[in-house]
Amino acid sequence: MVDERELWLAPLRGVTVRAFREAFAGPIAEAGFKGAFAPFIPANPGIRVTGRLLVELADGAGGACELVPQVITKHPDAMRELLKGFKGAGFARADLNAGCPFPMIRRRGRGSGLFRTPDLLDRLLEAGCDEMGPDAFSLKIRLGLERPDELSALMPIINRYPLAVLTIHARTARQMYEGACDVVRFREAAALSSNPVMYNGDVALPPQEDAPAKMLMVGRAFVRALGGRDDAAELLARYIDVSCKELCGDRPLLGRMKELLAYWCKWPRWRRLWPVLKMCRSVDEMRLAIKG
Ligand SMILES: Cc1cc2nc3c(=O)[nH]c(=O)nc-3n(C[C@H](O)[C@H](O)[C@H](O)COP(=O)(O)O)c2cc1C
Repeated sequence: MVDERELWLAPLRGVTVRAFREAFAGPIAEAGFKGAFAPFIPANPGIRVTGRLLVELADGAGGACELVPQVITKHPDAMRELLKGFKGAGFARADLNAGCPFPMIRRRGRGSGLFRTPDLLDRLLEAGCDEMGPDAFSLKIRLGLERPDELSALMPIINRYPLAVLTIHARTARQMYEGACDVVRFREAAALSSNPVMYNGDVALPPQEDAPAKMLMVGRAFVRALGGRDDAAELLARYIDVSCKELCGDRPLLGRMKELLAYWCKWPRWRRLWPVLKMCRSVDEMRLAIKG
């Protein structure tokens, strides 16, 4: 039977970064991802869209699949500037983050904070669809801020716009990244959507047979699975090499590697190595520990 499901790689800030997409382009292609969403880029008033700001988007998804850049903002005009920059850099699509649950972001009215300001969400969607064109702008959101029925109430606003896709992480912002996904509420919200809907939240790889949508976004399961590959150590060494070209100094490099390795700890080999890797003070030490 042909699997007609469409897989997209989730944006994971600090993890699925440009260097990650380059170093792991092979596994990304093997997993069959149709595309990847890049971690968010903030758009604030006075934004100057420079090459440096867009450097995270260079080389797409390492050639493995299509890359969709993402913006986080509460400023329609600043967002337009950034979207113009995306277009100038050759991207035909862009995504708006309305799901980020972190208190700093949420309290300032960005990410999942947009649940509190439906009029602003409306204006952002209007600006985004106007700037990118029909079926080229998309929204990534949760079931709600506090309660899982809040998204259904927003659906009349969202339905006014011809989105490329509406991605729903089937949790509330209050849940952060833990606790059960609410598939029933997801189905309720999806049934109200006039746009194509993508399901997100604890999708396995390969996805569960009963996954609740044809379009599925996968994040942590993919990252975790990388640690179980026979070539995980080589891939990690490559990730270090690629990251060395763009980060200066041991600290940021070690920080980036530890972000990834935290996902690999459930694999016996990495669980054994984790205490050593956590203590590494330089990238050279880490390279040695990985080889050993
Ligand atoms: C470390 C981390 C960083 C994330 N960064 C982003 C981001 O930049 N943009 C976004 O829309 N979602 C972000 N998310 C949420 C994921 O894209 C996804 O919605 C969430 O992890 C649930 O999917 P999963 O269970 O397949 O991982 C992040 C999640 C984590 C754990």
